[in-house]
Amino acid sequence: MTKLWGGRFQKSAESWVDEFGASIGFDQQLVMEDIEGSLAHVTMLGAQGILPQEDVEKIKWGLNELRKKAEKGELEYKVENEDIHLNIEKMLIDLIGPVGGKLHTGRSRNDQVATDMHLFLKKRVKEVVELIEAFQKTILEKAEQHIETIAPGYTHMQRAQPISFAHHLMAYFWMLERDKERFNQSLERIDISPLGAGAMAGTTFPIDREMTAGLLGFSKIYENSMDAVSDRDFIVEFLANSALLMTHLSRFAEEIIIWSTDEFKFIELDDSFSTGSSIMPQKKNPDMAELIRGKTGRVYGNLIGLLTVLKGTPLTYNKDMQEDKEGMFDTLQTILGSLKIFEGMVRTMTVNTKRLNEAVHSDFSNATELADYLATKGMPFRKAHEVTGKLVFKCIQKGIYLKDLTLEEMKEESELIDEDVYEVLKPEAAVARRLSQGGTGFEQVRKQIEKAKECLK
Ligand code: ARG
Repeated sequence: MTKLWGGRFQKSAESWVDEFGASIGFDQQLVMEDIEGSLAHVTMLGAQGILPQEDVEKIKWGLNELRKKAEKGELEYKVENEDIHLNIEKMLIDLIGPVGGKLHTGRSRNDQVATDMHLFLKKRVKEVVELIEAFQKTILEKAEQHIETIAPGYTHMQRAQPISFAHHLMAYFWMLERDKERFNQSLERIDISPLGAGAMAGTTFPIDREMTAGLLGFSKIYENSMDAVSDRDFIVEFLANSALLMTHLSRFAEEIIIWSTDEFKFIELDDSFSTGSSIMPQKKNPDMAELIRGKTGRVYGNLIGLLTVLKGTPLTYNKDMQEDKEGMFDTLQTILGSLKIFEGMVRTMTVNTKRLNEAVHSDFSNATELADYLATKGMPFRKAHEVTGKLVFKCIQKGIYLKDLTLEEMKEESELIDEDVYEVLKPEAAVARRLSQGGTGFEQVRKQIEKAKECLK
């Protein structure tokens, strides 16, 4: 079979060589964008008098027919036709005859593929943002139910200070808010038209790049044709934003996994988001959370993969760049899937408030309260820290907690301690009193949630 570019060639490659070079196996996902780009291009060719209107109409008709077939999944792609661009062009020529060969006037696959990628990501980034928001909404709703659920907060995986469980959940809300912001800001760099850059130097035809950009809904065009066909920054940026999003999801997944162990039992995942073991009947495994944590590795890999592809490519287009696609498709699918699963997992999980409450009553996470109490009574904080530390040590030796010490035992370390200390040592009081802005105090958490709601409007 002759290639669309076959004129210069005396013999054709063997099929396994074709197969190695082909991208149709994955870039067929760009079919709608490819047809859309071609429709805009040919419309412009007509408007500029580069092609007669009659030819333009035929080509448009053909492209629309192909689009209908694509929607129904009826297009048959061939590896010999290498990629989505040549497949569609070949199908067009088969459908409407040699006039179809006029479509590629003043255009190259280099600006064409870049255009498709920009169009594709522009749409998909909006989907990502929508799913992030849906997940944020669920986190917020869960948080609202647990403002007064007291839980241990950790540093170094050691009990640190009591917190409102809502406060912990809301930390992820804000990480996702920044992720959303990053994806939204990246749209500015995705929303640029490379179409009309040609192979790399522009074209001799009197094309109108602003017109095609307008037809495709791009708000600006690349100023330099060489940059236009070489730039994959916008894909790197997408992969980087995705990597950071996955970092957040992975940290959260890690907590979900820890919280659902027998040792912690802070939450229970719904059966519909857990799996059993083929041998151990008692098991209920947090597979989905583990998978999200695991998939994060591949998403990072896709970022490093593309950066590495680009670092050694001279201007302008090099076939290396075809390698931008699989990682991008894979990352997109992974983040969309992970966000959807995570949303469901959090929405359906049960928070074991009783267990959280027990946990926070049987630890030393109220030690800071005692130190702050002494400091409020005039003792320098460093001294207060030491006194409290000694009391903690006393407790450890006796196998009790701070609240179990008698007033006399406390007074042995400091005369400043009075009966009112017992109120201060209550974890509820510890949370309630943390009223600094952004702190875990109930009132602050309520305010925080109100602010968060504004972000979702
Ligand atoms: N399949 C190619 C890609 O994805 C399309 C551009 C090919 N251009 C070229 N001159 N070979 O990068």
